[in-house]
Amino acid sequence: MNLKPDTLRSIDEVIPHYPVKRSAVLPLLHLIQEDAGYISNEAIEWVAQKLSLQPINVFEVVTFYPMFRQKPIGRRHVKVCRTLSCALMGGYKTCETFEQEFNTHRGEISPDGEVTIEFVECLASCGTAPVVMIDDDLHERVDVAKARQLCEMIRRQESGDRSQNP
Ligand code: FES
Repeated sequence: MNLKPDTLRSIDEVIPHYPVKRSAVLPLLHLIQEDAGYISNEAIEWVAQKLSLQPINVFEVVTFYPMFRQKPIGRRHVKVCRTLSCALMGGYKTCETFEQEFNTHRGEISPDGEVTIEFVECLASCGTAPVVMIDDDLHERVDVAKARQLCEMIRRQESGDRSQNP
């Protein structure tokens, strides 16, 4: 498994917090998804071995919880809230704008590999709906116009990164 040293350290720290090793399966999967962007078959086998489980036990957890992804995502992860306040304030339109701008559909990687857009549940900022998380940054009151600006920002940042790391 190709995980960052910090992730491996966190994994080793988290396991002893549980009286039985197998109980650490959820936190381990969260840590791996945060690092790798998704849970691969290799990750499932790795977690199973780490916690003395069968791969099927880990697989069942991954497929049971909708927050775990089994496919890779784009370089940037755009999460649009679809819960009540955001939905009422135009969150669906916001999401469509991101999809159109990057020529992609929710849950897929855009053709240029830049983004994956997903709907998520309440991001705890209902008073400033509709809200969007781009990677770890929260953006508030994201109407269609602001969504377009954010798409532009992502493109600028991506082309800046490419010119620094051709
Ligand atoms: S409903 Fe969108 S942040 Fe709460």
